[in-house]
Amino acid sequence: MKAGWSAADIPEPTGRTAIVTGASGGIGYEIAATLAPRGAHVVLASRSADRGIQAGVLIGQGAPGASTEARVLDLASLESVRRFAAWFSEQHGRLDVLVNNAGIAGGPRARSRPPLSTKWPRGDCGTSRPSSPASATTGSTGPPSWPAARPA
Ligand SMILES: NC(=O)c1ccc[n+]([C@@H]2O[C@H](COP(=O)([O-])OP(=O)(O)OC[C@H]3O[C@@H](n4cnc5c(N)ncnc54)[C@H](OP(=O)(O)O)[C@@H]3O)[C@@H](O)[C@H]2O)c1
Repeated sequence: MKAGWSAADIPEPTGRTAIVTGASGGIGYEIAATLAPRGAHVVLASRSADRGIQAGVLIGQGAPGASTEARVLDLASLESVRRFAAWFSEQHGRLDVLVNNAGIAGGPRARSRPPLSTKWPRGDCGTSRPSSPASATTGSTGPPSWPAARPA
């Protein structure tokens, strides 16, 4: 990334579909609130349906017409990840941008069910499932350049 990079350097996202995990707060919310007003359709993936919807409302208040869609995704539950991936594949078919943001950096060690570390799999194991359809549809996991636009 070049020095002095800013949101203005984001390639034109109009017509792209993006998933942002952990979009209900923190960095994920900021990323979603940056992409949607620029024309991307952003799927707000979050553990809480209410917080995801609320994030969409806030983005819409700041940028009327911004296209967002809230969906539950708990990356500590592979069942939730599978449900999300199946829903996304059926509803959208193609993914242009995947922001694997959700996760925790600190806190005590803990395990989810099935017993996975709640810290490591959120960033690696849990996100590999939504990443798979992403790779399959974009054919790339490389640096920020969008694939060819879909016909309108
Ligand atoms: N801020 C930093 O300085 C920093 C530094 C290094 C790395 N990071 C990484 O950057 C990412 C975002 O950080 P942040 O500062 O924005 O943290 P944050 O404010 O705590 O937000 C983390 C987001 O991840 C979500 N999340 C946590 N566990 C999840 C799970 N099992 N399934 C789905 N979503 C889950 C949270 O959802 P809930 O609202 O449901 O809790 C929240 O939306 C994290 O991966 C963090 O580890 C941040």
